[in-house]
Amino acid sequence: MKFFIDTANIDQITEAKSLGILDGVTTNPSLMAMEGIKGKDNIFKHYAKICDLVQGDVSAEVISTDYEGMLREAYELAEISEHIVVKIPIIKDGIKAICKLNDEGIKTNCTLVFSAGQAILAAKAGATYLSPFIGRIDDSNWDGMLLIKEIAEIYAVQGYDTMILAASIRSSRQIVDAARYGADVITSPLSSILGLLKHPLTDLGLEKFLADHRKSQG
Ligand code: E4P
Repeated sequence: MKFFIDTANIDQITEAKSLGILDGVTTNPSLMAMEGIKGKDNIFKHYAKICDLVQGDVSAEVISTDYEGMLREAYELAEISEHIVVKIPIIKDGIKAICKLNDEGIKTNCTLVFSAGQAILAAKAGATYLSPFIGRIDDSNWDGMLLIKEIAEIYAVQGYDTMILAASIRSSRQIVDAARYGADVITSPLSSILGLLKHPLTDLGLEKFLADHRKSQG
């Protein structure tokens, strides 16, 4: 399973990259806004900086909601770097745009996915990645992980190539469950990735090993 970090924050991306396990980055307009980046030039420079740093797939989302607008933005974004993956919402014009970009060899991440039906359409259109929003489904008192499981089953039965990218992750446990239920990729805040390391018995065990070593050394 690939690990992406879900942020546009350079410090956090740098820290995740330093772990050696980072495969890519996902951003969205809200995450870019959180970094205070304004204006197209600055936004594009920021994407370029992330791509240089990560050397892996970096999702950059279109703002347009019409077919021509999405394509125009997609071509501009794809020019920034070979690592850019164009993120497109699962709406009617989005599906058309994903088909066209797939034909032209431009990678896409179909976003804002909340149902298996949407996942089937995105795969038919040839999306590179599919982003079901686990946390937001859980927030609405439903079960995001069941959706990952259902999509993984459908994609396996149908032989679809689209990679399932479990998004909107809020906890380390969700990363474990996404792996278990067949996600190809998770995108997560740094805190949930680092949370995977935590176990009290690891801390106690390490403390004891180091104490015993110190004693044996006098
Ligand atoms: C990433 O691709 C998504 O945009 C992101 O994971 C959404 O997360 P949120 O529901 O925490 O905003």
